[in-house]
Amino acid sequence: MIELKSAEEIRKIRESGALLKELFDMLDETIKEGMSTYDVDREAHEFMKRHHVTGPCLGYYGYPAVSCVSVNDTVIHGIPSKKIILKDGDLVSVDICLEKDGFISDSTHTYEIGTVSSAVHDLNVRTREALYRGIEAAGTANARVQDIAHAIESYIKQFGYGIVREYCGHGVGFEMHEDPLIFNYVSISNPNPKLRKGMVFAIEPMICMGSHRIKDLKDGWTVKTVDGSVACHWEHTVAITDNGVEILTR
Ligand code: MF3
Ligand code: CO
Repeated sequence: MIELKSAEEIRKIRESGALLKELFDMLDETIKEGMSTYDVDREAHEFMKRHHVTGPCLGYYGYPAVSCVSVNDTVIHGIPSKKIILKDGDLVSVDICLEKDGFISDSTHTYEIGTVSSAVHDLNVRTREALYRGIEAAGTANARVQDIAHAIESYIKQFGYGIVREYCGHGVGFEMHEDPLIFNYVSISNPNPKLRKGMVFAIEPMICMGSHRIKDLKDGWTVKTVDGSVACHWEHTVAITDNGVEILTR
């Protein structure tokens, strides 16, 4: 069931999202070669403590951190680790949920460490562009969920990249994961509700340079590409309002 949010509730999620954006501004200045992914998570967690907010990923089905930090062929849900050291040429996505006064926002940024190959840089730029095309589609009149999927898929297809199929965007705000599901590819078997004022959801394309096929590691979380190709992930929380679509995490 899709839970619509009132203007007041959207205002609270907007506050949560604004702080999450500030957290990413801090990471923009902080993430560097030589840091471990554990260090990245600690920076995020310290930021949350300073601002008296929490990270609902921590403890979610036993997840041990406030962020997912996924390097190169790790697509999503990379567990922060002191053993994973960021090095020149790495592509690293940082996925964070933030809860403020009971309202949750969700966003992912992907960082290039030092100088990445032009192929990796292109993947990063195009994945972010796919997110913005999905957001734009959500803002058009009478849009449905699959218009977002279509915008993302039709843009990404030309590059021959793989689009992850097993994970998708989702409603957010009261809980970390709510209806509707926001897929990144079109299928007649996926639900396709009409977008309505008061919907708040995360759009999050997960794009692989090679095949879309993924595998789960034995740690129960880490998701990698099967072919070892580099993957990328960008995410924003958006709201549907009278004025179309509003990005709450930017
Ligand atoms: N933030 C992720 C999402 O985009 C969920 C992370 S799973 C967790 O949906 F275990 F880290 F919480
Ligand atoms: Co999400």
